[in-house]
Amino acid sequence: MTAECPVDVAFTRRLPKIELHAHLTGSISRDCLHDIWKTKKVQDPELDLADPLVAIPHGKVDYDITTFFPLFSSYIYKLCSDLPSIEYSTQAVLRDFQSDGVVYVELRTTPRAIPGMGVTKDHYVKTVLDVLRAHTDNSENTMRAFLILSIDRRNSTAEAEEVVDLAVKYQSAGVVGLDLCGDPAKGDVGIFAHSFARAKAAGLKITLHFAESETSASDLELQTLLSWKPDRLGHVIHVKEEFRRMIEQQNIGVELCLSCNVHAKMITGTYSDHHFGMWRHSKVPVALSTDDVGVFCSPLSQEYYLAAQHFGLRRSEIRALCERAVESIFTGPYEHMRLIKLYAGWDGWEV
Ligand code: IMP
Ligand code: ZN
Repeated sequence: MTAECPVDVAFTRRLPKIELHAHLTGSISRDCLHDIWKTKKVQDPELDLADPLVAIPHGKVDYDITTFFPLFSSYIYKLCSDLPSIEYSTQAVLRDFQSDGVVYVELRTTPRAIPGMGVTKDHYVKTVLDVLRAHTDNSENTMRAFLILSIDRRNSTAEAEEVVDLAVKYQSAGVVGLDLCGDPAKGDVGIFAHSFARAKAAGLKITLHFAESETSASDLELQTLLSWKPDRLGHVIHVKEEFRRMIEQQNIGVELCLSCNVHAKMITGTYSDHHFGMWRHSKVPVALSTDDVGVFCSPLSQEYYLAAQHFGLRRSEIRALCERAVESIFTGPYEHMRLIKLYAGWDGWEV
């Protein structure tokens, strides 16, 4: 019997990867933000926004729950504030995932209107979808990209309904699901029950940020979220045994983000304490994911490497993990079959 080759960075870079939990704006690299800033500065030398390389210096990843969310509302959204910058940054995000060896991505984003520029939420979604479609349709690209629309916990019921309207409208153009995201300290999730039920009835899949912080992990909140019959759950940190069992019984996929949880101190301890160590022994689909690679700077290949290092994963275990994650993708049989075949025929397992 020959020993398996070790899991090194070269292996995890080449590994065909599936990314199921990535926020579009949080995935924009600092260099890309800097390019956008430079262009704007040329157009308007009076632009009153700090250079991204100063505001979010390279190497800074210690954003926690109190500094992370304001980074978007008070800085990145002000920079990505028109359709050209949204288009440019979406293209760059797709290029980054593809060059890291991602072969399938379900990006998620919160529809955003920019009234000062005459941009509606509909324009925003259509612009992002057009970029995704162009990427997927280009036969030189090995990665295919789909979109999940996010409802923010701070949204009103009417705003949430608008997100569902858009998701349904653009379902045939690449929107595959609905997400619940945003600051876990904010909002009452109960008000979104109707929106998620309507999305499900329309054939959209559902993923929810689940028990991300203690404040968003009350029995009432978790029971409410599970009653919507989600297809996947993100983070799944502060979950007691009773809920774990329900997730396993219902075979709900979990999206786990190691570096984000460690850097943002969402878990106690470090990588080896991450609850990936528990979920990997369950039967549910487990998708290692980046969450916000632009902020936490750990691409998906690095997440697989970290998981392998801290949990002693062998190549065959990584293979099983990837193949299991395919079971929880939000697109249909075509992509499912493409990915299964890709893993079956990949020549890198033993090289
Ligand atoms: P966007 O939806 O493409 O604009 O991506 C950024 C948004 O995603 C942020 O404003 C947050 O609302 C949301 N987001 C990013 N990371 C997280 C997370 O870890 N938990 C909850 N929401 C998040
Ligand atoms: Zn997230």
